[in-house]
Amino acid sequence: MEWKTVNASGRKRVIVTKTLPGGRWLEILRDADCRVEICRSDAALSPDEIRSAIGSRCDGAIGQLTEPWGETLFAALKAAGGRVFSNYAVGFNNVDLAAATRYRIPVGNTPGVLTETTAEMAVALTFAAARRVGEAERFLRAGKFTGWLPTLFLGQRLWRKTIGIIGAGRIGEAYARMMAEGFKMNILYYDLRPNPDLEASIQDLGRFLESRGEAPVTCRRTEGLEDLLSQSDCVSIHTVLDASTHHLINAARLSMMKENALLINTSRGPVIDEAALVAHCRKHPDFRAGLDVFEDEPALKPGLCDLENVVIVPHIASATGWTREGMAVLAAANVGAILRGDPVWGQTDITPFLGKALPHAAPSIVNARDLGLPMVQGQRGRSDSMGTLYP
Ligand code: DGY
Repeated sequence: MEWKTVNASGRKRVIVTKTLPGGRWLEILRDADCRVEICRSDAALSPDEIRSAIGSRCDGAIGQLTEPWGETLFAALKAAGGRVFSNYAVGFNNVDLAAATRYRIPVGNTPGVLTETTAEMAVALTFAAARRVGEAERFLRAGKFTGWLPTLFLGQRLWRKTIGIIGAGRIGEAYARMMAEGFKMNILYYDLRPNPDLEASIQDLGRFLESRGEAPVTCRRTEGLEDLLSQSDCVSIHTVLDASTHHLINAARLSMMKENALLINTSRGPVIDEAALVAHCRKHPDFRAGLDVFEDEPALKPGLCDLENVVIVPHIASATGWTREGMAVLAAANVGAILRGDPVWGQTDITPFLGKALPHAAPSIVNARDLGLPMVQGQRGRSDSMGTLYP
């Protein structure tokens, strides 16, 4: 593996397992007196490769969602004098938090810069699936378009229909609001915790519509998942992946959905039993799915690629320049701040980190409380990017 070193004279050694976009993140690490070693390969690194990169001295690391940061790597990092790890992602299902906490290593993530970007991709997949964009484009590119027809690629109209949100954290809430504000869709959501901000904003929108003589939109938290699945025209998944949500959408739950429903997933692949989805889509050609994430990523379950009623993109929901550069800034700020001994930000709004003057704090450390790290300010409102469904 080829590695590139930046600021070779820095006294703290930080490894970064992929090239990250933008330049601000490197300035942050340079200002924190870090020598930064960046892996230039696009291939996912194995634990052995990462362990050898950690070597005998490493103060901190920035890793990817494609790497299993568990017991082995945290033990290696600790033994090398490591004091911090940041995931270059908001999700951290690839990180064994208990192991990191046992080794007293703070684990950072990058919330707040992916919210609308990821929600926008969920909207894009929703309409691509509803209006058969993938199929129609393949048809056109194959030279099969011989002229306008009254029956060519009839899709689904979503205007004023019902959206079901599984996991109403910040991303699920942003998507729900886009669908209600843009397409006047009613919202059902399923989450362990109520989301009063979401409910209030949809209620305000409903009142506004009524004041103009239009029908209102509504928002309701469902008691059970079954209730949401059976009533929604489109179900969008925005939950964390953990043991309780693995294969949450399985054959039984798919069969509770409307035969012509849409299923959108921009969270994590294993929340859906992908083989069951392939079988369901084969059996129900009017059912449609829009997927950004896959169970065995980057591999797809057999048959998925052949389905015309599925739209698939390669885990790019957060892929805008602004977001990916913002993620790099947050990951670097997490590492730099902990190495300097700064407290944890502890607030939902991380925008101050995107300005010129960086706050003296680590923007987001997920095991901060367990490690008893000092906080700058208390949290307010929902801080979880992906919703939690079970205790
Ligand atoms: C994340 O940050 O968890 C996203 O999946 C990256 O796209």
